[in-house]
Amino acid sequence: MKVLWETQFAGLTPAARGKVRDLYDLGDRLLIVATDRLSAFDVVLPTPIPDKGRVLTQLSLFWFNLLRDAIPNHVLSAVEFPAPFDRFKDELAGRSMVVRKTQPLPIECVVRGYVSGSGWKEYRATGKICGIPLPAGLRESDRLPAPIFTPATKAVSGHDENISFEQAASLVGKELAAKARDVSLELYRRAAAYAEPRGIILADTKFEFGLLDNELIWIDEALTPDSSRFWPAAHYSPGGPQASFDKQFVRDYLERMQWPKTPPGPELPPEVVEATRAKYREAYRILAGRQLD
Ligand SMILES: Nc1ncnc2c1ncn2[C@@H]1O[C@H](COP(=O)(O)OP(=O)(O)OP(=O)(O)O)[C@@H](O)[C@H]1O
Ligand SMILES: [Mg+2]
Repeated sequence: MKVLWETQFAGLTPAARGKVRDLYDLGDRLLIVATDRLSAFDVVLPTPIPDKGRVLTQLSLFWFNLLRDAIPNHVLSAVEFPAPFDRFKDELAGRSMVVRKTQPLPIECVVRGYVSGSGWKEYRATGKICGIPLPAGLRESDRLPAPIFTPATKAVSGHDENISFEQAASLVGKELAAKARDVSLELYRRAAAYAEPRGIILADTKFEFGLLDNELIWIDEALTPDSSRFWPAAHYSPGGPQASFDKQFVRDYLERMQWPKTPPGPELPPEVVEATRAKYREAYRILAGRQLD
């Protein structure tokens, strides 16, 4: 399988290149290609991680299918690509999907079962996350009494900002915000319950939804290492940050070399690339229950 840092299809221009995905506009559909790009501290690194794009796509397909009765999702096909893209089948295979084009809601639907990341920062400063009061005395990475919906704005560049449910409601309307919240919590609960006996804690995750003909649709990626915090349950130890399942080798390396966390990102050495690749593959193997071929 070829490694792909970015798509270059002669004569075809992507509608957008995100940090990880290249998007092609097919009219009422989109072709979403998950590349092997990796971002750390919000900077895309120049070194691709082999298999990463395929893990993201195959794991998303797995979850979209497992949870399809909770909400309709955007997937149309992950094996057939319409002309003229069929010419690039070898590059697209395994990492791409054709999806229904929706109007994405301008919020990130984050659910947290544990206190970590920006949630921990906010809790430490205010005792709340996204306006939700929480018990006193929680330590970093502690489990919350119950999962909470903690929406964020979708920053065009830079960091997303946590917002209250009321702010989310003022962006998308109260009814839609409530629907997105309820389905996000259901997806999180079901995914966390699935992952737990497999030795993975789903600490938090981010969903995206879009509207199509007034129907709410689950879009983007589903419960991948890029959109979620997966913690190996065997090493869970609240009271500090937990090792990230997938990017820890990269983060450790970047901290060691004292990179200032501003672009450009440095190249990664082969052993960091290989260890990271192995972690992405492991996440897929444990959660999907089979080896990525
Ligand atoms: N079915 C869909 N309809 C419309 N837009 C979609 C759909 N699925 C995904 N998208 C959009 O496609 C983009 C996916 O690209 P990518 O994840 O690389 O970009 P990003 O979100 O800018 O980066 P990051 O995820 O690292 O923050 C997102 O902007 C997402 O909202
Ligand atoms: Mg994204």
